[in-house]
Amino acid sequence: MLTGFKHLHSSNRYVLLALLLIVIVTSFMKWQGKKEYTKQDDKFNLLAFIFTHVQLLIGIVLFFTSSRVVLKGLDMSDKYDRFFTIEHTLGMLIAIVLITIGRIKGKKIIDSVKRHKLTFWYFFIALVIMIASIPWPFRGFGNEWM
Ligand code: HEM
Repeated sequence: MLTGFKHLHSSNRYVLLALLLIVIVTSFMKWQGKKEYTKQDDKFNLLAFIFTHVQLLIGIVLFFTSSRVVLKGLDMSDKYDRFFTIEHTLGMLIAIVLITIGRIKGKKIIDSVKRHKLTFWYFFIALVIMIASIPWPFRGFGNEWM
């Protein structure tokens, strides 16, 4: 069960990163090109929002079940334990809050160009934080690519 959640959480990252990239690139181009905010834009925005929250739910399950999270007596000088218990969780929570605020605030904006601009900045900053908080194998956290 836990292994299944871990694989789902791990592979879901690529879908999420791809969706965020689509939203960021299109909102930037349409903001610069002063284009309409279409139903298609809202669909990708909603999909990114949904996948972000699915990832959050799986993350919460992992947080309370994973052996990589130290809930009692965390040694802050242990880079590995600190990463999974504090850095990954906190970084992702901040990114998720930004995506949520970005979507909710965006929905209230009638002007298309302003909506594209707001979406771009919230999603772009969230993506940067997310990329920095992922336990990529090259960072030495002993994880796989999938
Ligand atoms: C929404 C963006 C998130 C992304 C893209 C993401 C991505 C990842 C990735 C790629 C791993 C490595 C999995 C593996 O190698 O098996 C991982 C592990 C983990 N994530 Fe997340 N995560 C996110 C959010 C969260 C949140 C919000 C929490 C906690 C509330 C969380 C808790 C964990 C835990 C505890 C692990 C370690 C699981 C283990 O290997 O035992 N994640 N995450």
